[in-house]
Amino acid sequence: MESQSVTGHSRPIAVFDSGLGGLTVLAALCQALPHENFVFLADRARVPYASLSPALISRYACECAAFLADFDPKAVVIACNTVSAVALKDVESIFSAPVINVLHPTASAAAKLTTNRRIGVLATTATVKRNTYATVLKELVPNVEITSQGCPLLVPLVEEGWTQGDIPRLIVEHYLDRLKAALVDTVVLGCTHYEFFREHIQHAMGRHVNLVNTPSVTAEELKLLLPEPQKQQGSVTIYSSDVTDALFKVVESLFLNSTDLTIETVSVEDLSKRKVLA
Ligand code: DGL
Repeated sequence: MESQSVTGHSRPIAVFDSGLGGLTVLAALCQALPHENFVFLADRARVPYASLSPALISRYACECAAFLADFDPKAVVIACNTVSAVALKDVESIFSAPVINVLHPTASAAAKLTTNRRIGVLATTATVKRNTYATVLKELVPNVEITSQGCPLLVPLVEEGWTQGDIPRLIVEHYLDRLKAALVDTVVLGCTHYEFFREHIQHAMGRHVNLVNTPSVTAEELKLLLPEPQKQQGSVTIYSSDVTDALFKVVESLFLNSTDLTIETVSVEDLSKRKVLA
């Protein structure tokens, strides 16, 4: 999308994902823009979205968007590739504020990084089926060869808090077989949950392979939208439709230095009663 300047400092920036993966994006946004107020929603009670039909993914995503629209955000970040691939237009239509998503900045970064024009895309099965990464990358890189791999076990592992050790490593390695065989020089982590497996993926692919950093390229994109920051310290409010230890652990690991951070529960009933005209 074209950059658009946004005014107003106290209105929050709204960010959402189906689950914990979006917190990796939120952490990068907070680091890049420490003076902003963020309101984040993780729809953990209904994660993973990728195993649902496109119609239901869109409905849940729009319910999340409608919840966040009540905060009158000055900008919105869809921190979920699956929603970006399946329901982008529906979600955008809910906000009057500018909406950015993780998929387009990630694809642009991959296009800049590849030198052999062989790009691997790891994503949820819903994102792979939609083919959005391949479509966007083909527009950006002539004669690009895309190897896409659905990784359905990775989101549940993150939600379970099981990202370290031999079993996650072996699962990740299994999903990388086709990318290695295709000699890709650049890999897109096309699901924000996969950031938690970055080290496993980098190690298995080799240090010579570029892994696109979605949280950081998304933060750069968001920065382009915003005017110079004010001096006050920003705040972070994290809503989740289910609050468990796994959420606290991930928040602790990603937001060690955040003083002004609160975690709140929003019920699925509250989300689903929102009337959405998507
Ligand atoms: N973090 C989401 C993504 O980027 C996970 C999707 C899901 O819930 O299946 O696609």
